[in-house]
Amino acid sequence: MSTMTVSEAVLSRRSIRAFKPDPVPLEVLQRIMDKARWAPSGCNFQPWEATIVTGAPLAELQAKMLAAPFQDPPEYSWSDPEVIPECKARLQRVGAAMYQAMEIGRSDADARADFVRNNVTSFGAPAVLLCYFDRRMGPPQWSDVGMWLQTIMLLLREEGLDSCPQEFLSMHAKLIKEFIGVSDETHIFFCGIAIGRRVEDNPVNGFEREREPVEGNVRFLGF
Ligand SMILES: Cc1cc2nc3c(=O)[nH]c(=O)nc-3n(C[C@H](O)[C@H](O)[C@H](O)COP(=O)(O)O)c2cc1C
Repeated sequence: MSTMTVSEAVLSRRSIRAFKPDPVPLEVLQRIMDKARWAPSGCNFQPWEATIVTGAPLAELQAKMLAAPFQDPPEYSWSDPEVIPECKARLQRVGAAMYQAMEIGRSDADARADFVRNNVTSFGAPAVLLCYFDRRMGPPQWSDVGMWLQTIMLLLREEGLDSCPQEFLSMHAKLIKEFIGVSDETHIFFCGIAIGRRVEDNPVNGFEREREPVEGNVRFLGF
């Protein structure tokens, strides 16, 4: 295990969309999940739940998803960037940078759709964390789950591993829950986290992402 600082973990994490097939050892994942329990949550609710899948069951689940239509109605409503112009612009810019890195042209809708479908097989990741929680949880608990997931993604970096969070998998939420034996009545499926090692020289893992400068989102008062 490396001696990575928190800053190094934060700054070296990026969403990886091309993974090596090397398996992720169970004991590494157990170590990470044991530490991630210490993520904060409002009222210490700890609303997060997950199943981590690899090997034959993962291949079987992915084959089922590839053969199935997307769920209708959707599991939950993805935020609609149309109504927030800055968000729409950010989405367009990250998409443009990603497809440009892969040399997929603006008008090549088929190639873009093919790439999006790689979400189903989690971009070749050898393990996938499937995250769900009790339907009674509200917005504060969704936020708690997000903190837990980011804690996991940073701990993965410390172990030399990479990740990609995947809301896309919610398009197959019911199918996933049935496969892993989680009740659709009581639980909402949130997202997957693809887990593995990055293919270093694949341009999809190297394009430049952008972030707002601090002043765009944060104010300091009274300093
Ligand atoms: C909750 C969540 C869900 C996401 N779902 C997907 C997804 O389904 N497919 C995908 O390729 N990226 C997905 N992403 C990755 C975002 O596109 C990515 O975090 C964003 O563009 C910033 O890039 P970075 O993670 O490389 O810093 C998701 C991110 C989060 C936090």
